[in-house]
Amino acid sequence: MHPEPAQPGSRLVPGTAVRWRCTVCGFVFEGEKPPKGCPACHSPSAEFMEDSGRKQLTYDGKPFDVLLINGSTHRAGNTGFMADLAEKFLRERNISFRRFNLSEHHIDYCWCCYAVRAGSCTYPCRNAKDDMPAFHQMLAASKAVIVVSPINWNGMSARLKAFLDRTTCMNNVYHLKKPGHTEGKIAGILVNGHEDGAIKTAMDIWLNFEQLGYILAPFGIGFRTHGAEFNSKTDHEFFRNDEFLVHQVRGVVTNVIEMLHLKIEEKLRGKLIPVTE
Ligand SMILES: Cc1cc2nc3c(=O)[nH]c(=O)nc-3n(C[C@H](O)[C@H](O)[C@H](O)COP(=O)(O)O)c2cc1C
Repeated sequence: MHPEPAQPGSRLVPGTAVRWRCTVCGFVFEGEKPPKGCPACHSPSAEFMEDSGRKQLTYDGKPFDVLLINGSTHRAGNTGFMADLAEKFLRERNISFRRFNLSEHHIDYCWCCYAVRAGSCTYPCRNAKDDMPAFHQMLAASKAVIVVSPINWNGMSARLKAFLDRTTCMNNVYHLKKPGHTEGKIAGILVNGHEDGAIKTAMDIWLNFEQLGYILAPFGIGFRTHGAEFNSKTDHEFFRNDEFLVHQVRGVVTNVIEMLHLKIEEKLRGKLIPVTE
């Protein structure tokens, strides 16, 4: 989760201009182009970003409709592909959105102040030093969220889990009887994996948003798994040529957009009674 310094064995070629960092493992490479693959974690070149040092994410305050989150460790893997499709369908419908790949961001584990004392978990979050405060602001500013996750051991990715844990301060405002920032917003969830755990993963993600007062769009969960005849070498091609996956993503994005058009968040403002854990 933390951008890491160059590891021993990083191939730094003196005199070349660009430093590239693997967003998956932190391996640093210097050259005109990123390497074909990461020698440390074997991720493809698309996982490399120019390494311009760590800058804290900020939100410019401009309104937009949908916050699209790729929760995968891979910015350009199978989950990233689903997020690309979601972007395409949002664009086709002229919906304003912002997409983030969590692997490009620095998100600390939740300090779990709530577990020390409920009153200690405040909004804004006590940890103001990573990228999460900007994500909090964008969750509050956007009207809907679409979250895309791989299945990792029958659950969401660890990165997404860290992100969702960090929304506890937005949930705890209801507990502390303070004004909320998220009730009445819309959620859509997309999941991909090999064989097992898609629905559990989606429901785990949904639980978090339900506790923030979000409304799951009708048919708001879409997932695609492929079964045992494919593996991690062949799944890339499977997902990229799969009409059902396109249908799932188009469906969830469309259903989120249709809910947005109903302007339910505005209609519910001030009328809901938060029922939270
Ligand atoms: C640590 C780990 C655990 C996984 N667990 C599951 C699992 O429980 N069920 C499943 O269907 N696929 C599982 N997979 C496969 C991934 O969900 C699949 O490769 C996915 O397409 C990866 O998305 P990405 O390219 O965005 O990383 C697992 C992969 C990893 C690396």
